[in-house]
Amino acid sequence: MPNGKSFFRLDNKVTIITGASRGIGRSIAIAYARYGAKVIVSSRKIDACEEVVDEIRSLGGEATATVANISDKSSLEDLVQFSVTTYGGIDILVCNAASNPFYGELKDIPDEAFEKILKNNILSNHWLSALVSPHMSNRGGGSILIVSSIAGLKGSPGLGAYAISKAADMQLIRNLAIELGDKHIKVNGIAPGLIKTDFAKALWEDSKIRGHYEEKTALKRLGEPDDIAGVALFLASDASNYVTGQTIVADGGITING
Ligand SMILES: NC(=O)c1ccc[n+]([C@@H]2O[C@H](COP(=O)([O-])OP(=O)(O)OC[C@H]3O[C@@H](n4cnc5c(N)ncnc54)[C@H](OP(=O)(O)O)[C@@H]3O)[C@@H](O)[C@H]2O)c1
Repeated sequence: MPNGKSFFRLDNKVTIITGASRGIGRSIAIAYARYGAKVIVSSRKIDACEEVVDEIRSLGGEATATVANISDKSSLEDLVQFSVTTYGGIDILVCNAASNPFYGELKDIPDEAFEKILKNNILSNHWLSALVSPHMSNRGGGSILIVSSIAGLKGSPGLGAYAISKAADMQLIRNLAIELGDKHIKVNGIAPGLIKTDFAKALWEDSKIRGHYEEKTALKRLGEPDDIAGVALFLASDASNYVTGQTIVADGGITING
């Protein structure tokens, strides 16, 4: 353990998190702040982000809210500049926000929906990584984390384009890890299973679908946002200093079951 300090501390690490106003992003923001990070809480709605900032401050942590829409490159440029102006640089990036505007077979997906998925779930992660990496490099290194999904590991009857985007994220992670390794920037991902957030409400609110997931999951329960925050903490901290290019599956053991 370095200097007797916890491997998991993130003291004074400046962190940008997209989609941090609720769900998995919110949990990661609170966990990182509890472990000492200075967190930029972003999403499309400032009020919701401010609520997370208030919560973090009430816990004694450091955070600031700002608006950022992942579908708009200039908004992401502003997000990065805001972080540099507010906290003097960037150490950790969590690309968490994503979109899925369509459920059904690929033959029925409108081009606009497919394009939105590719832009928000892949291109925006590429944009943000390119924007933050010079700042990380200036500080001697950093950590980029992309939230993928187990949907990217298998064929899917209803989530085709989303699943394609999440599979692409896993390749983006491997590629960025190769390109940024010499700058001491590690790049990793998390592939969550079904987590109880607004994003997946249609699945877990349906008792039949929920029962199927609970039965098939080795741990016999759906995931909570905090189940993902712990993995995100590991991947941002010194505990994972020799891990890069990997996507860790955090799904309670559903993909390994049959
Ligand atoms: N929940 C699951 O079962 C599950 C499983 C596997 C992977 N994931 C992945 O986990 C990540 C987080 O999902 P979640 O379940 O936590 O979703 P969530 O609870 O619905 O939260 C989504 C967050 O993203 C923000 N957001 C949505 N569109 C945005 C945009 N265009 N620009 C910026 N922010 C945007 C939302 O805030 P605003 O509305 O204020 O913008 C919110 O903060 C996503 O990448 C998702 O694909 C989720």
